[in-house]
Amino acid sequence: MKLEIALLAGDGIGPEVINEAVKVSNAIAQKFFHEITWKPALTGAAAIDSVGDPYPESTHNICLTSDAVLFGAIGLPRFDNDPSAKIRPEEGLLRMRKKLGLYANVRPTFTFPSLIDKSPLKRERIEGTDLVFLRELTGGIYFGKKGRSNDGNIAYDTCTYSRDEITRLARKGFELAMTRSKRLCCVDKANVMESSRLWRETVQNLEKEYPEIEVSYELVDAVAMRLVQWPNTYDVLITENLFGDILTDEASVISGSMGLMPSASIGNGNALYEPIHGSYPQATGKNIANPIATILSAAMMFEMSFNLFDEGKLIRSAVNTSLNKEIVTEDLSNGKKSFKTSEVGDFLVREILNS
Ligand code: IPM
Ligand code: MG
Repeated sequence: MKLEIALLAGDGIGPEVINEAVKVSNAIAQKFFHEITWKPALTGAAAIDSVGDPYPESTHNICLTSDAVLFGAIGLPRFDNDPSAKIRPEEGLLRMRKKLGLYANVRPTFTFPSLIDKSPLKRERIEGTDLVFLRELTGGIYFGKKGRSNDGNIAYDTCTYSRDEITRLARKGFELAMTRSKRLCCVDKANVMESSRLWRETVQNLEKEYPEIEVSYELVDAVAMRLVQWPNTYDVLITENLFGDILTDEASVISGSMGLMPSASIGNGNALYEPIHGSYPQATGKNIANPIATILSAAMMFEMSFNLFDEGKLIRSAVNTSLNKEIVTEDLSNGKKSFKTSEVGDFLVREILNS
């Protein structure tokens, strides 16, 4: 199969982890006789520095004309620490999500048997956790009206949702739940927020179309608590943009390291695959970042964009082998011998080619 993939490395450790995902994907291509054309494009701070725009039109065109997008990370402290910065790298990511119509962010959280004891949460709490968040990605407070009063002393952001936006996200949730344990949790703040009441009402209406799905409605503060108490009681969770942003970072702790969890952003057209972690600027250039989240994002890409399930499975099994053999970066080595980013990638490539 011929695969054309836009490659957006981005900032910080982005280029380093992307590099390993490319190595692993190329090994998969060699093994299964696919032909991958990588189409690199600028984004984030790197794009601001070179063309003054974190998501230039040329990058958008490359994304549109590719079969899928593989993305590293975005953001640099020099922008975070300057509240008056006119252009921010993150704007590039938000614009990219909006312009590519990526309205659903699929963020799985699962545990690796060999890493259960690396999690700060107790084994009996997390064993068997296998949940998926579907986070709405192109609406809500991220994209609502925002501003400042004339004297600059009052600021506001508004959370706006339409029934259509909620419906299309919720449908993805119901469909995903149909392929899993048929349980769906709608996370909202319907006791306070009007937009949440519209979420609840919309999802309640959809329930009739999916009689097999058992739907629960939980308030976001309660979910934040239960997520670390009994994460293994959840299956598919749907929620709005900001709640999803916060809860998915929280959920990543369950697996033992933020450097492990992949994600997919999907919509009507091309999908985008990215690790859920950020650009980890302190580690830039040190060859120490964990590449697994990006490599597992590539696995999701093979599966979801190309229906290449054996390919995804081989990546996952190589990753499991590396974790079992403790071929891991320093975030997982517990003070024992750790491996470099590129060494973890090299190991996975060998595993795949020798399988
Ligand atoms: C994420 C990130 C982004 C978000 C930032 C970088 C804008 O935290 O993908 O979760 O808030 O959506
Ligand atoms: Mg986030």
